[in-house]
Amino acid sequence: MPTPKKIHILGGGQWQVPTIRLAKALGYRTLVTDIYADRPGYAWADEHAVMDISDREGTLRIARQYRIDGIVCDTTDVGVPTMAYVADKMGLPGIGYETALNFTDKYRMRSITSAAGVPNPPFRLADSAEAACKAAADINFPAVIKPLDNQSSRGVHIVHSPREIEAAYSDAARSTRADHILVEGFLKGVEVTVESVCINGEVTALGISDKDHFSHRVEVAKRLTYPADFPNPILEQIRDVNQRVINALGLRTGITHAEYMVTESDVYLVEIAARGAGSRVYSDIVPYLAGAPIPQAYLQFIAGETFSVRVDGQPRAANLAFFSLPSGTVTRVCGVEEARQLPGVHEILLEFGVGDRLTNPQDDRSRPGLIVVFGKSRSEVLETTDRAFRTVRVHAE
Ligand SMILES: Nc1ncnc2c1ncn2[C@@H]1O[C@H](COP(=O)(O)OP(=O)(O)O)[C@@H](O)[C@H]1O
Ligand SMILES: [Mg+2]
Repeated sequence: MPTPKKIHILGGGQWQVPTIRLAKALGYRTLVTDIYADRPGYAWADEHAVMDISDREGTLRIARQYRIDGIVCDTTDVGVPTMAYVADKMGLPGIGYETALNFTDKYRMRSITSAAGVPNPPFRLADSAEAACKAAADINFPAVIKPLDNQSSRGVHIVHSPREIEAAYSDAARSTRADHILVEGFLKGVEVTVESVCINGEVTALGISDKDHFSHRVEVAKRLTYPADFPNPILEQIRDVNQRVINALGLRTGITHAEYMVTESDVYLVEIAARGAGSRVYSDIVPYLAGAPIPQAYLQFIAGETFSVRVDGQPRAANLAFFSLPSGTVTRVCGVEEARQLPGVHEILLEFGVGDRLTNPQDDRSRPGLIVVFGKSRSEVLETTDRAFRTVRVHAE
């Protein structure tokens, strides 16, 4: 028997566990690296090492030492440039380092795609609260202040007046490794997400959702429903913009997770990443909607095999919804098992227990739990989600 190939997976957190387990199930050996000494992914890996996944040289050193055959970072942005850098240096399949930077630096992303004619809001760099204030005034309020290189809505703030700039700037500046932050025009419309694969420059959109947000923090998503509630010509326009964005940013072969704002006038780019999305989107929802094992196909590409995806074209719907719970200390949780038995409920994940303190989520990672529902139509998955939410009862005081 030939020796199995070794795949280096960047990140050992909960959203990477499905990739680690899948790589193992496909017969690869797995090396997992993460900045923390204690991560859930290590338990599933053949080998692990502690290394900051944003540290390109450190990761390259470990990758060489462990003699890896492929490197992947498929659900978190911080490791995407590292993955591409190491793959380039070791001559392994990858997306290319420059391409990875185009997909992770929001200023580069907006500059390149606007030059290619993709609708973007006005945008400026700022390196102080005063500069951010001037940029926002130039652009017009409301404006959006955000880090160039973070994710999960950390440090992203919509500002309505100069008074709000100071706090928004400080939070954005705290949430970045760069020496500038981005100020951009506010896009008013319905936000959609697009999950796709790109093979030799040919993009296939596997799922398009519309998003709803928490009212106390509108930058954080509360629900994503696939397919998005738009007529076919708009969906076609979204696919077209998505293809143009991916081509402009130079991705030849890889996976993407994008957000667009459908406004009254056009489809605008919010952002795009060269990876899948967490919260079970990439691991569960995308393969379900596509009727094809996308994470498996991508791992095979990373391992040096052909990336081949055959979407079955069946109409399917899915809903990803996050719990909105009262603030306070949890005293009782009931109905979870009952809700899990409802037809169509794929998963209920609660990230708290009795005794934990709940507060309103401020970013994606502080959302307290999620429900994933599968079905044939939007109305069916939305109804099932409502029933599941009514069945789970969380008491807090
Ligand atoms: N220019 C904008 N106009 C309106 N809403 C925006 C804009 N930029 C960001 N947002 C909102 O904030 C969310 C997070 O911003 P995003 O740029 O996607 O950062 P992150 O990389 O942290 O996800 C978006 O999904 C969207 O809801
Ligand atoms: Mg985003």
